[in-house]
Amino acid sequence: MIEQTQATTLVGSTDGKGAALVLKDVHKRFVQRGRDSHVLRGVNLTVGAGKIVALVGESGSGKSTLARTIMRLYRPDKGKMLFDGVEVGRIRGRSLKDYRSQVQMLFQDPFASLNPTHTIRTIMAHSLPANRARMSRREKDELFASSLARVGLNPPSNFLAQFPHELSGGQRQRVALARSLAAQPKLVLADEPVSMLDVSLRLSVLNLMQRLNEELNIGYLYITHDLASARYVATRIAVMYAGEIVEEGTADEVIEDAKHPYTQLLIQAAPDPNRQTRAMVDTTIFRGEPPNLTQKIVGCPFQFRCPHVNNRCRTEAPNMVEVGEGHKAKCHLFDV
Ligand SMILES: Nc1ncnc2c1ncn2[C@@H]1O[C@H](COP(=O)(O)OP(=O)(O)OP(=O)(O)O)[C@@H](O)[C@H]1O
Ligand SMILES: [Mg+2]
Repeated sequence: MIEQTQATTLVGSTDGKGAALVLKDVHKRFVQRGRDSHVLRGVNLTVGAGKIVALVGESGSGKSTLARTIMRLYRPDKGKMLFDGVEVGRIRGRSLKDYRSQVQMLFQDPFASLNPTHTIRTIMAHSLPANRARMSRREKDELFASSLARVGLNPPSNFLAQFPHELSGGQRQRVALARSLAAQPKLVLADEPVSMLDVSLRLSVLNLMQRLNEELNIGYLYITHDLASARYVATRIAVMYAGEIVEEGTADEVIEDAKHPYTQLLIQAAPDPNRQTRAMVDTTIFRGEPPNLTQKIVGCPFQFRCPHVNNRCRTEAPNMVEVGEGHKAKCHLFDV
């Protein structure tokens, strides 16, 4: 009964108004060869309808695991995910297909995500949701052409018969975006979508994502290591460390007035053309390693690397507290 109601809500909600994604205390563990890795450790995050939120964090912090969990490729062990008010964990069958049309992933390597043996037309046809798969060939071609034109691939008819290897990296990423558009997504989980592209192309793909956000109200969870691009494209930034969001706020505030010592270290380690000193991921700034996720962490997960560590950090996990308007940080320095 619940499934039926949810199916109706999900199908009926393709209204171009966008939809919010709300994650509450999401946990994900992997058990491999008897080792239990607690990768997502209580993620709380909201991507408002039609908003661009950047998820920033170093390698291994759990960003891709979070995206795959949102896609329902993994089942969370605990917690709740709501999309458009519908509990994602309860979506089944055809509704799950609809969900995966409305929430789509864009990957780092567009070549790997586009089947090399298929033409762009076939690739796009395969990702159409059930309600569009019944369109005539002409209607489909029109839809694909308008999607390709929207991402700047002109004339679109030239691209439909081509294979992915005939395109440049930037064009392939545009095809990947056009493919998602044909299914009318409300939210795109873009997992480092520009990190494999030439520097000159990165900006154009980020600009395109922004334009699609403005024109079609598509929301993005933009996953990246790169704070500068996060600030460029997103209105809010969430910083992830060892499977938790440790700071969240408007993009400007998180960068200009970072509160969490981890965010401050990320900013110091990021390349900045305005800084005189050589800006590299400096191991003297970025000392230590992330915690071992197979072990239980007592206290703050950042204690082992934090320049401000004190006894409380070693025994008590910090709570997320307000540090400014719409700006939160999970650190004892602010939880007094
Ligand atoms: N299917 C899996 N089984 C076991 N462990 C996994 C699995 N997927 C991810 N992990 C582990 O979870 C942790 C987080 O990985 P994840 O890929 O989510 O990080 P990430 O933040 O996306 O990193 P990167 O920036 O390098 O892409 C890693 O320690 C990884 O080994
Ligand atoms: Mg990743």
